[in-house]
Amino acid sequence: DGELMQGILAAGGYDIALKQEDADVILVNTCAIREHAEQRVVGRVGDLSRLKKDRPDVVIGVTGCMAQRMGEKLLGQAGYVDFVMGPDGYRSLPDVLAQLRPRSLPEPTTMPRRSLPMLSGPAEKAPRLAVLTLEANENYEGLEQRRAAGATAWVPVQRGCNHRCTYCIVPYVRGDEKNRDAEHILSEIRSLPAQGITEVVLLGQTVNSYEADGWDFSRLLRAVARVDGIRRVRFTSPHPNDVTTALIDVMATEPTVCKQLHLPVQAGHDRTLKRMVRRYTVDGYREIVRQVRSAIPDIALSTDVIVGFPGESDEEYEATLDLMREIRFDDAFLYKYSLREGTPATRLPLSQHIPGAVAQDRLERIIALHRSIQREINTAEVGRTVEVLVERAAKSAGDLLGRTESYKVVAFEGDPSLIGSYLDVVLTKTSGSTFTGHRASVLVA
Ligand code: 5AD
Ligand code: SF4
Repeated sequence: DGELMQGILAAGGYDIALKQEDADVILVNTCAIREHAEQRVVGRVGDLSRLKKDRPDVVIGVTGCMAQRMGEKLLGQAGYVDFVMGPDGYRSLPDVLAQLRPRSLPEPTTMPRRSLPMLSGPAEKAPRLAVLTLEANENYEGLEQRRAAGATAWVPVQRGCNHRCTYCIVPYVRGDEKNRDAEHILSEIRSLPAQGITEVVLLGQTVNSYEADGWDFSRLLRAVARVDGIRRVRFTSPHPNDVTTALIDVMATEPTVCKQLHLPVQAGHDRTLKRMVRRYTVDGYREIVRQVRSAIPDIALSTDVIVGFPGESDEEYEATLDLMREIRFDDAFLYKYSLREGTPATRLPLSQHIPGAVAQDRLERIIALHRSIQREINTAEVGRTVEVLVERAAKSAGDLLGRTESYKVVAFEGDPSLIGSYLDVVLTKTSGSTFTGHRASVLVA
């Protein structure tokens, strides 16, 4: 979304300021998935109140999912915020800014205008705006992302979500599923290699439910995989229920599709999954993993898990640990349940809510378990030579960071001119989660 807003603003005649002090407009883009993410935003936005005192002309906007969720309440809480804008409002950014700062900013372009709801405020004061309509048809078509430098393009193919997992705020802040036109996606991807971009990550909330004009996700993935000059293709995040045999076949047969799959499981007990309304069983998930692994034996698997979901008994939690031991994920993103106002799970009886200390203990234990499994997996990989796409310079001087096909991070010595290239690297050591290595050719030389 950040890249999309940059693109929209660039098309509207704006430059991206490198330093906050140089900016006439400051946008804080936000996430609403967990309370922790929102608390960080509150801190960040709070810091801007001082800046606004010194420079009252600066326009401050809060954009994205938290802006959508909190809306005008946020404007009420933070008097120095000029506008809030949800994920479907980005198209109107230049118009909004033109209204808020009519004199000193460039004329908006010819992008289609939308009528903007005006919030109250004394006439002599600058208006404050809330752009919070969820647009059933906004699929961001025709808007150009301004990509961050690097060899990887993050390409949204789908927005919103048709599921209603009971813990999740996403459908309420991003609306129902909207898919982009396949031909547009492909023509965008065809233009990437000329810009030095050879890795593509297809993005969607349930990316593999993609469906547009006779295209399903496996067809889209195969077409993307065959674009000239594209060397690595990934996608995130798929929903287990839409992992089809056709998709597995594309992953197994298209050499540019990375042998890596992020497949959120969320919990390892049927009762928890049922309360979460995930619409699959543990056995169903196991079966998908079995099929994937039998078609692509060395695939790297990762997952998301929520612990402390309301009603999670010790037995249910232990079943989740057992599933982690059984599947042995290469990577796992492990979260403590965070209550999101407006989601169905808030209606589960209070008596079922898990005390904070219990949830914290469960989180710490599952992290420890995952780390020990991950260390074993990665230790077994030390000594291998793997192809690494160099992403950027590491913090430690003289080092580069890259990723393997399995999406694992490797640090090794090398010149920044190598960023964007594919190198063979010998893995020499692991921290448990990441690797250090050296270039295979350097060893020979
Ligand atoms: N609390 C904790 N984790 C959550 N996630 C989504 N909603 C919540 C919540 N309310 C996690 C899920 C999802 C990931 C992106 O964030 O595991 O897969
Ligand atoms: Fe949220 Fe479930 Fe949709 Fe994922 S599939 S975005 S967890 S509602």
